[in-house]
Amino acid sequence: MPIKTVGVLGCGLMGAGIAQVSAAAGFKTIVLEVNEDVLKKGLGRIEKFLAGGVEKGKVTGEQRKTVLDNLSGTTKYADLKDCDLVIEAIIENVEIKKQAYAQVEAVVGPHCIIASNTSSLCITELGAATRRPDKVGGLHFFNPVPLMKLVEVIRALATSQQTHDTLMGFVQAIGKEPISAPDKGGFIVNRLLVPYLLDAIRCLEEGLGTAQDIDNGMKLGCGHPMGPLALLDFVGLDTTYYIANIMFDEFREQRFAPPPLLRRMVLAGHLGKKSGKGFYDYK
Ligand code: CAA
Repeated sequence: MPIKTVGVLGCGLMGAGIAQVSAAAGFKTIVLEVNEDVLKKGLGRIEKFLAGGVEKGKVTGEQRKTVLDNLSGTTKYADLKDCDLVIEAIIENVEIKKQAYAQVEAVVGPHCIIASNTSSLCITELGAATRRPDKVGGLHFFNPVPLMKLVEVIRALATSQQTHDTLMGFVQAIGKEPISAPDKGGFIVNRLLVPYLLDAIRCLEEGLGTAQDIDNGMKLGCGHPMGPLALLDFVGLDTTYYIANIMFDEFREQRFAPPPLLRRMVLAGHLGKKSGKGFYDYK
């Protein structure tokens, strides 16, 4: 069954971006949040990004209108009833995700695919909690979603070939590049990225260089758009700490172990850009 209507659970940083790119590609897109206030804030995030795009000459007035025409927000699961695909981008908590999937399954048709944007949780476990494990997979987007070209399409143990093919096709339809990855902690990108980010923190801990020097090293020496410590601030130190712990639990390898400085910064509330302070000051 072709995908026409897409539901997005969560309108935070990732959910808002996912809803935006889905609506921009012409899919009728309904984004769900827990209450009106959070929903309003999430939709405002999309409007702000579009306005910024128009200002920079990157988004035309017509493209902006397409997104806004195809997009609607709700706080009721019942409004997702016509969805052919529901992409979940809510809090990284297995139990809360399972409860959300049960609410989705109570309203959608049997053909509907459920895809998680999780960066580190086990998709096989999430699928096993549903009545349609063959129609559960992963769609892992990257921040900022409207600008990053890649989406990892995750195949869990029970994901059917048809579901996987449909998800690969959906990613192409929204103008992104899909790569197929198995359901193993961190998939492909975080398997490589997380040890690199953690190593940058270890370098700082050891006094190998200042944050600025470490970042400039990778930015100017290797052509990365951001240095690792600036990227950590951008992703969120709490998010990285959480992902690293899950990967360490899965593989029991030292390279995934969060360094002491990361834990302390999280405990101190220095979470990066979103808290105003991380390796750099944003106040
Ligand atoms: N609408 C449309 N286009 C926009 C826009 C908007 N609102 N805002 C910016 N753009 C465009 C810009 O015009 C620019 O386009 P060109 O390259 O054609 O000139 C491009 O987007 C980049 O924008 P900026 O010049 O304003 O900013 P920048 O050059 O500093 O890039 C960035 C910003 C894209 C974030 C870049 O720094 C980058 O790629 N950083 C790395 C991000 C990254 O690694 N993300 C992955 C994180 S890991 C993750 O998400 C997964 C996980 O599981 C943790």
